[in-house]
Amino acid sequence: SKLRLDYKNASSFLKEGEMEMMAPFVKEAHRQLHDKTGAGNDFLGWVDLPKQIDEDEIQDLKETAERIKKNCDVFLVIGIGGSYLGAKAAIEMLSHTFHNELSHERRKAPQIHFVGQNISGTYMKHLMELIENKEVMVNVISKSGTTTEPAVAFRIIRGFLEEKYGKEGAKQRIIATTDKSKGALRTLADQEGYKTFVIEDDIGGRFSVLTPVGLLPIAVSGADIDEIIKGAAIAYDDFKNSDFKDNHCYQYAVLRNIFYRKGKTVEVMANYEPSLNYLSEWWKQLYGESEGKDHKGLFPASVNFTTDLHSMGQYIQDGLRNLFETVIKVKNPKEDIALPTDEQDLDGLNYLAGKTVNFINEKALQGTMLAHTDGGVPNIVLNIDEISEQSFGYLVYFFEKACGISGYLLGVNPFDQPGVEDYKKNMFALLGKKGFEKEKEKLENRLK
Ligand code: PA5
Repeated sequence: SKLRLDYKNASSFLKEGEMEMMAPFVKEAHRQLHDKTGAGNDFLGWVDLPKQIDEDEIQDLKETAERIKKNCDVFLVIGIGGSYLGAKAAIEMLSHTFHNELSHERRKAPQIHFVGQNISGTYMKHLMELIENKEVMVNVISKSGTTTEPAVAFRIIRGFLEEKYGKEGAKQRIIATTDKSKGALRTLADQEGYKTFVIEDDIGGRFSVLTPVGLLPIAVSGADIDEIIKGAAIAYDDFKNSDFKDNHCYQYAVLRNIFYRKGKTVEVMANYEPSLNYLSEWWKQLYGESEGKDHKGLFPASVNFTTDLHSMGQYIQDGLRNLFETVIKVKNPKEDIALPTDEQDLDGLNYLAGKTVNFINEKALQGTMLAHTDGGVPNIVLNIDEISEQSFGYLVYFFEKACGISGYLLGVNPFDQPGVEDYKKNMFALLGKKGFEKEKEKLENRLK
């Protein structure tokens, strides 16, 4: 197994046999996921995905990634939510910490920037300044093909490309990832003749990282997408049985539901590696959008340690006791560096001379975990051996499957997101979109 869940530091918050009491409910949730009979069952394509990879598509993705690497200095990924966070998480986790700042030879890939994940004019203008004299290629990603943020960004970028390369030239530099038949992006891509990749109907945005949505940008960064899928396939096998005694994925789902019912309504995901920051962002979307509905659900929060021990650490140790913590612990981080001896020892650090930075980090993790547990915060540890493509794929499937089980245990449909539509209606009305005239007047009166 590529992941070991350890809840030693959460067990004093559990009654004996409390987890086992959940076994029949887990069995039922498992059955509904695999038989595809539960709520949201038309969005379960991700369940068997690691075992159903289309080799021709993988080949096409790799060839397209090579073409992108050869033909640009800057690769722009346009998308938001599930059409952004998975690729961002993988690239941050697997690339050099300063990948965009390294020389092209050292990086062996274009610079990668994300856009269309906000509506900031400043961000857009600064990006345009950055790419002004660069060779640029673009992957525009939107399942619905109608999301405002990426559509706005793509219109501006498309204008830039057409001006720089002409209409024909621009066409060769745009790859669209979208629905096979529906949506404005599909219409545009077909009309212009862009290269396209398809997101299947039965895979929702936040469950789409192992489809072309995530895999194309990840392949461009130089990561090995076969290994990512292999990691997910190992996870598939590890978690395919409903008995949760040896199933760490289902144990995680059970623990978070138990703590939720005890009033621990915030789950704090903690990491000690900056490269995992965006994995937490991806995880927050996955759980927040899947479970936060019908006025229920854990609030998923995240911290980057030890950085945030100097900000949020106080609250976690000593604030309102409505939290539990899930810590991702990496046994063998990618790199390490030792602390040198200093003859004068003015900083008093000679007791650590010869020790490595990772050793100090590990002691910080252990000390923090015990302190937080003593402070009344149950700690769940997800142990992974290394930061690698396989562990990324494994973690993705681990969290996706735990999310499906957890959502069913909570009694919600984890695969819809009705709540994200409400702000859009208001925004369209205020922007003056056709068909929203009545709402516009009402909202503007409220804003007066
Ligand atoms: O999980 C989801 O469905 C959402 O977060 C979407 O991924 C996000 O809203 C982007 O949607 P789209 O890919 O249709 O532009």
